[in-house]
Amino acid sequence: MLGTDLLEELGAVHEVVGVDLPDVDLTEPGSVVRALERARPEAVVNTAAFTRVDDCETHRDLAFAVNADGPGHLARACRALAVPLLHLSTDYVFGGAGTRPWREDDPTAPCGVYAESKHAGERAVAAELPDGAWTTVRTQWLFGRNGPNFVEAILRQVKPGARLKVVADQRGRPTWTRDLARGLRRILETGKGHGFVNVANEGEGTWFDFAEAIVRSTGAGDVQVAPITTAEAARPAPRPAYSVLDLGKFRSITGWQLPEWRDALDGYLRERG
Ligand SMILES: NC(=O)c1ccc[n+]([C@@H]2O[C@H](COP(=O)([O-])OP(=O)(O)OC[C@H]3O[C@@H](n4cnc5c(N)ncnc54)[C@H](OP(=O)(O)O)[C@@H]3O)[C@@H](O)[C@H]2O)c1
Repeated sequence: MLGTDLLEELGAVHEVVGVDLPDVDLTEPGSVVRALERARPEAVVNTAAFTRVDDCETHRDLAFAVNADGPGHLARACRALAVPLLHLSTDYVFGGAGTRPWREDDPTAPCGVYAESKHAGERAVAAELPDGAWTTVRTQWLFGRNGPNFVEAILRQVKPGARLKVVADQRGRPTWTRDLARGLRRILETGKGHGFVNVANEGEGTWFDFAEAIVRSTGAGDVQVAPITTAEAARPAPRPAYSVLDLGKFRSITGWQLPEWRDALDGYLRERG
């Protein structure tokens, strides 16, 4: 989802090589090294991951192979060729028991297999590469044209008289992959690594707020959105309750900020037609 938008965003101004399974498998160090030696890039971005959070609970080994060992292999290959790496991680590394937006250097407390595996991936990147040669961007609540996402899941349920139940006790920042790609480009164009950087659309809300905005955009007056709790939703993997990322570091690095998530949603809906 993010990778496709990033190819488009970067491809407009830079030469970009996109790689994916089955040609390049992050869990196979040899295929990673060969890909880098072929392309000889000036920078590498890793958007690959095992992202199905609930499935990670029942596929622990695969989750760690892709999300933890994979970034380690990639970082090692980058070090050998002296290429900087921009790696993608998640707000889920924070425990969710906060009361103010999470800053990059706040203590982490990953909960669940997905969060633990992504956390281990962050540490592998930091361990393999010297400071100044890596950036790990933590982002959250992504939606975009090229992947299954919350906006599409809600739109599918919008039918005359429908009553949707949506979690109202998790807070975060819904983020459009197209805006995120613009933000990643700005980080890459600084030409150096920045350690951990949070990047997300501005504004915050709950999944309930997000769902209401999506339903309102359709003009369907007879569709109700009812708030439920995380416990009632009974998903296999735990989700952090308070997951709002602090965006100050990103703003100061780039002198720019992503739009408000409600504007991002409008943009996404306009683009999908
Ligand atoms: N989606 C979110 O809400 C969210 C939130 C916070 C952070 N993130 C992070 O942001 C990044 C991008 O997320 P996304 O939602 O755009 O992910 P995505 O759409 O699931 O894309 C991930 C890609 O990685 C590929 N992949 C899986 N295993 C691989 C392997 N062994 N080698 C090479 N490629 C492999 C997947 O291929 P298959 O489809 O064939 O498996 C898929 O194309 C990830 O690091 C994710 O953890 C996402």
